[in-house]
Amino acid sequence: MNTLEHIAIIMDGNGRWAKQRNLPRTMGHKKGVEKVREIAIYANELGLKCLTLYAFSTENWKRPEQEVNYLMSLPKVFFSSYLKELMANNIRVTMIGDLKRIPEEARKIFTDAIEKTSGNTGMILNFALNYGGRDEIIRACQKYAQDYKDGITSNLDEETFKNYLMTSDLPEVDLMIRTSNEIRISNFLLYQLAYSEMMFVETFWPDFSCQDLDKCIAEYQMRKRNFGAVK
Ligand code: FPP
Repeated sequence: MNTLEHIAIIMDGNGRWAKQRNLPRTMGHKKGVEKVREIAIYANELGLKCLTLYAFSTENWKRPEQEVNYLMSLPKVFFSSYLKELMANNIRVTMIGDLKRIPEEARKIFTDAIEKTSGNTGMILNFALNYGGRDEIIRACQKYAQDYKDGITSNLDEETFKNYLMTSDLPEVDLMIRTSNEIRISNFLLYQLAYSEMMFVETFWPDFSCQDLDKCIAEYQMRKRNFGAVK
């Protein structure tokens, strides 16, 4: 059995899911929020340690203003509906990304959810919000350079650098899943995915089911992970 502690998901295809049904794109995102709840509760039941979800990238600001505003309203929709359930399931909420540019209301809602769930010991539900892999690496380098200048550190190796990333407290990403049949990483966890298994599934995120997650996990367990070595 391969170790499976951390799954990261690029939740793609909300827009196309809505288009297929002649609905506005925002309806795809709305359905996508319900999926977040379903998959998070299920992943926690499976005993996963961490689930990272790509909710908004540093590039998503390029979308039409109306869509960006809608996406920024989703934390409120999500946590006002499901925070109680997350608490009852012992799920801890965390986030990676730059919160500064996030509108105040969404920022407060996130900060509140992170604080309220901070004592929970079940799965970590980690949202990547206003997150970009390149941005994260640059910030890590800047922080390291400052610490070096201040005499706090003098040695740069992989073990040290890990501590400067936004994921420093999280386990290694074992499996990365992207929905909607797009075969790319889109600036997601660039450093962390070095040895993750990748899975690209056709299903649009609003249609992604617990059974689909089971299938991904079953396929993951068939993969031979050598991490560059010969076994
Ligand atoms: C990509 O689909 C999806 C997003 C940019 C947003 C994903 C966000 C959620 C599912 C909800 C997040 C929840 C919280 C609590 C913050 P797309 O719009 O690019 O789809 P398309 O490629 O079909 O157009």
